Amino acid sequence: MSDTIKETFFEELQSVEGLATLESLRVKYLGKKGVITEAVKKLSSLPIEQRPQAGKELNETKQAIEESLGKKEKHLRDKQLSERLAKEYLDITVPGRYIPRGRLHPINQVLAEINHIFSKMGFDVEEGPEVELDYYNFEALNIPKEHPARDMQDTFYISDEVVLRTQTSPVQIRVMEKKAPPLRFISPGKVYRCDSDVSHTPMFHQVEGLMVDKNISFSHLKGILETFLKEMYGSSVEVRFRPSFFPFTEPSAEIDISCIMCGSKGCRVCKETGWLEVLGAGMVHPKVFENVGYNPEEFTGFAFGMGVERLTMLRYSITDIRLFFDNDLRFLRQF
Ligand code: DAH
Repeated sequence: MSDTIKETFFEELQSVEGLATLESLRVKYLGKKGVITEAVKKLSSLPIEQRPQAGKELNETKQAIEESLGKKEKHLRDKQLSERLAKEYLDITVPGRYIPRGRLHPINQVLAEINHIFSKMGFDVEEGPEVELDYYNFEALNIPKEHPARDMQDTFYISDEVVLRTQTSPVQIRVMEKKAPPLRFISPGKVYRCDSDVSHTPMFHQVEGLMVDKNISFSHLKGILETFLKEMYGSSVEVRFRPSFFPFTEPSAEIDISCIMCGSKGCRVCKETGWLEVLGAGMVHPKVFENVGYNPEEFTGFAFGMGVERLTMLRYSITDIRLFFDNDLRFLRQF
């Protein structure tokens, strides 16, 4: 009996290829109603003298089956594992993928630097709309209808009353309308002019500044702007104030720094003058104060404005402003 059981078991075992079939085979032979259990039950029907021998053989058969099942299971598990390892094989010597790093645009870098220098001197940051009313961009800044700055060639008109702001100066008006003095802020942002060549783009950036309080004088203006320019271009740079004209300031000045390209010897960039113009500024015009309801007898203040592209070009010796907006990575990666 045992021999037939063994023989059929081993035949069946050979064809087993997976763990699930192996388990069914185990149940079939060793389970509660399995072949072995059934055979043990039949022992009692044998003549009494054959029983010990048959029982012994049956025990051995059971052990052999258990042992073979164990071996087969280990074999199948090993096979499964090595198949999985082969599939999940990871080549740790493959070079990593290059992930290019982003960076700030040079204009934003310089803007951040300007913000930082002025914040150390107690200036807040204010913002205003790029689509602006004619009133704020011109009228309130004491630029009447026939002023040349409103020339159709320069200003992008959206309608008679609405323009793309040509300067950040309207933010002065908007802030003064809302807040009472003392004021001390800068206002960075985009401005638009209908102009395009190596030193002009239809959109560029300015930073406006305004400081208003009792007893603010031209000396404060000089002190703040000299400090700013020396932080920006190095302490050895020389600063020069030249009389100028802006409708919203009186007196007005243009501010030059000694040419950082040639050390004031005279070159193409400074047009052989040794000086570079970097800022417009002045004492806020009494009419501007009146327009926002400030009393010009009580308060005085200064304002200034600068072009960020120009400052950046001087800083890095860039000769064509359009490079900032081409988005050529070979250019942008150098900063
Ligand atoms: N808004 C002027 C411009 O775009 C720059 C400027 C000059 C701003 C003098 C000022 C200032 O606040 O006081 O050319």
